[in-house]
Amino acid sequence: MYRLTDAQKARVKELLSQMTLEEKIGQMNQESVSIVGGFDVPFEELIEMMTDGRISQEEFEKIMSTAQQDYHEDDIRAGLVGSLMVQDPRKANELQKIAVEESRLGIPLMFGLDVIHGYRTVYPIAIAEAGTFDPDLFTRTARMAAKESRTQGVNWHFAPMLDVARDARWGRVSEGPGEDPYLVSQFAKAKIKGLQGDRTSPENYVAACLKHYVAYGACEAGRDYNTVSMAPSMLHNAYLPPFKAAVEAGAATAMASFNDLNGVPCTVNPYTLRHILKETWNFPGFVVSDANAIRECVNHGIAATEPDAGTHAANAGMDVDMGTQIYKKHLRAAVERGEVPLSVIDEAAERILSVKMWLGLFDHPYVPEEAMSRYEVLPEEHRALAREAAEKSIVLLKNEGNVLPLKKSQKISLVGQLAASREEIIGAWAMSWRESDCVSIKEGLERAGAQLQYYPCCGPETDINEEEVAAACQYGDVIVAVVGETDAMSGEAASRADITLPGHQRELLERLLASGKPVVACLMNGRPLALQWESQHVPAILECWHLGVEMGPAVANVLLGEKNPEGRLASSFPAVTGMCPIYYNHMNTGRPGGRSKFTSRYLDAGFEALYPFGHGLSYTTFAYDRLRVEEQPDALQITVDVTNTGTREGVETVQLYMQDVTASIVRPVKELRDFAKVSLSPGETKPITLTLQKSDMGYYNDAGEYVLEPGLFRLHVGGNSRDCLTTEVNITF
Ligand code: BGC
Repeated sequence: MYRLTDAQKARVKELLSQMTLEEKIGQMNQESVSIVGGFDVPFEELIEMMTDGRISQEEFEKIMSTAQQDYHEDDIRAGLVGSLMVQDPRKANELQKIAVEESRLGIPLMFGLDVIHGYRTVYPIAIAEAGTFDPDLFTRTARMAAKESRTQGVNWHFAPMLDVARDARWGRVSEGPGEDPYLVSQFAKAKIKGLQGDRTSPENYVAACLKHYVAYGACEAGRDYNTVSMAPSMLHNAYLPPFKAAVEAGAATAMASFNDLNGVPCTVNPYTLRHILKETWNFPGFVVSDANAIRECVNHGIAATEPDAGTHAANAGMDVDMGTQIYKKHLRAAVERGEVPLSVIDEAAERILSVKMWLGLFDHPYVPEEAMSRYEVLPEEHRALAREAAEKSIVLLKNEGNVLPLKKSQKISLVGQLAASREEIIGAWAMSWRESDCVSIKEGLERAGAQLQYYPCCGPETDINEEEVAAACQYGDVIVAVVGETDAMSGEAASRADITLPGHQRELLERLLASGKPVVACLMNGRPLALQWESQHVPAILECWHLGVEMGPAVANVLLGEKNPEGRLASSFPAVTGMCPIYYNHMNTGRPGGRSKFTSRYLDAGFEALYPFGHGLSYTTFAYDRLRVEEQPDALQITVDVTNTGTREGVETVQLYMQDVTASIVRPVKELRDFAKVSLSPGETKPITLTLQKSDMGYYNDAGEYVLEPGLFRLHVGGNSRDCLTTEVNITF
C-alpha cells in the first residue's frame, strides 16, 4: 500500500518549501538515455531507417556501438531531472550520486523500466499468467521481479498493464490480463501487492505503475495507437474497474495511455486524470505520460505547438513528462504567463517527492555493491516459481482421442523452428533476460528423457523444408509441432490484420497430418489466434503462449503427463479473424446469435468464439451438479458440487457468472463475479461455494453513477464461460 507517514509527509513539505520553480519542474521531467554523436540524423530517424529497411540491423548496431550515450549528468546536477530509464546498477549509482551529492537539494532519482513479466527470471506473458486464475501466483511472481530489478537499480516498474483487451488483432493483448474486468481487477490487486507489498527492506519493493490509463485496449480495429470511442457506461463498467481496483490496492503511480478517448487524448484528459483518478478515486500517487506522448498531442491535432501540448498536459493533471523535455523547456514560461497555475506544479512535485520518500530513496539511494551480483546465477527458487507459473498457464484447448499425455515409450518427432528456440519463448517486453537462462521446448523434452528426433521444418517466417517434413513423418509414433508467432509478432506496435498461424505453418500441419500419425500442435504465441482450420483437423492443441525461461520443462511436463494442465483462456479465441473483437461478456442484442439467419451472426462463421473465455481442458474430466443459492443480507452464497469424473487427479477452475436480466440499460449476457480453484482426486466430489456481494450486482450508467436495480438475475456456474449450470434469483437491494 502506498501511504506516507506523517513524518514523511512533513519531510516532503519541508523540501518543497525550499525548491525553486525550475527544480519542481525538474522533478516532472523524465529522461531516457539518449544516443548522441557518430551519425548525422536524429536518433528517432535512425530507428525509422532501420525499421523501414533503409539501413540493416547490422549497420544500425555498428553505428550504435560508436555512438556516445548521454545520461544528462549536467541536468541531474542542476536538479532538472526527476527520473530516468537505466538498468545498469553501477551507472544508476553514479547518476544517483550526482543527484544526491552534487545537486542543490540532493533529491534522489527514480529509475523506471518496463518489467512486464519478470526481470531476470522471465515468467509467462500476462495473458498467459492471467489464465492461471491464481492471484497468489500473480503476487509471488511480481515480488520476485521487484526484488531482482532492485538489485539492478530499477525501483519503478511500468507495470502492471491493466488494459482490458477484446480484440486479438491488437499486439498488446499479450501484455495484459485479458478481456474480463473482474479477472483483470484481481490481477491488478495481486500485482500491486507483489510489487509494493513487502516493505521489510528497501530492496524488496518497487513503485508500481498502473497502465495504460485508459481504454487503450479498445483501440479501433485492434490497430495500435488508434482512436477510442466509447459510451461512458462501457468505460465505467469494463475499462475503469481494474484501475480503480489498483488504486484501492495502493498503487504508487499511473501511466496515461496514448489513445484519445472520445476525442481527448488520455495524456491531456482532465476528465480521466483529474476528475476520475485524482478527485473521485483520491489517487495519491503521480501520473506519468507514455513515451513521447505529450509531443504526440500535436499530431493528434489537439495542440498547435509543443509548448501548448505541455500546458494542456500539466493542467489536465499529468505530473511527469516521459522523454520529450517539453516540461523542462516550456513549463516555466507557461507558469509565468499564467497559463499553468503554480499550484499545478506544486501538486505534481509533491506527488513525485512523496513516491520517492515512500520508496526510501532519501535514506537508501544506492544499490549496495553486494546486491548487484545476487542474481548472477538464477536461484533455483526463482526457476521453480517461473516453472510453476509456466506449467499452470498452459491451456489444453483440444484433446481428441486422448492423444495427450504422451507416453514415455512413444517416439516423438519434434517439429518447428520455434521448438528449439531459446529467444522466442521469452515473449514481448522482456528486457533483462539472458539466453543462457532459457530452456527451449526441445531441451525441456530432452531433459525429461523423451525419445525424440528434432526436425525444424518451418518457422513463422520461413519456408517449409520438404526433406525434414518427410523425415519427421517417418520417425515418430507421434508428431509434436511447435507452431505460432515470434515474440516480435505481439507487443507494442505489433498489431496483425490476420491472426491465423503466420507463414506456412498451416501447410506444415497439413503435411504432418497427411502422415496419418497423431499430431499435437503446441502453440507458442502472444495473442489468441484464429484456429478454425486447426480445430477441425489437428487432434490435440496445447496453448503454450510465451512462457518465459522455464518454458521447455513446463511444456515437457504437460506433454508427458507429469503435470495435468489447468490453465484457462483469459481471452476468447475467434474462429476467424473477422470475428474480432470477440469477448464472452458482450452486450445483449434484440436478436441474440442463434441458428436462424436473422440473428446477430456471421453467414460464414456463426457467432460463438471457437474457444470461449475460461475454457481449458484437463487430462481428467469434471462434472457439476446441484447448483444452489443461499441469500444473506449482503451477499449470495452460491454452491455447486464438483466431481472429478476421470481417472487422475486434476485442478478445476470453478467460475461464477452473473446476468442482470432486465435493467435500465442493456447489460452483458454474462459477467464473471468470482472463481475458485479446486484440486480433486478421481471420483472425489467437493461442494464449492462462491460469493456474490449484492453491492457488486449493480452497474454504472452513462452519467458515471453506480446503480443497483432490483429484479431478476441469472447465475451461471461452470468450468468456462459457455458451459454452465444456471439458476435465477430475484433480488431487492
Ligand atoms: C509503452 C509503455 C512503456 C513505455 C516506456 C511505451 O512505448 O507504450 O508501455 O512503459 O514505452 O518504455
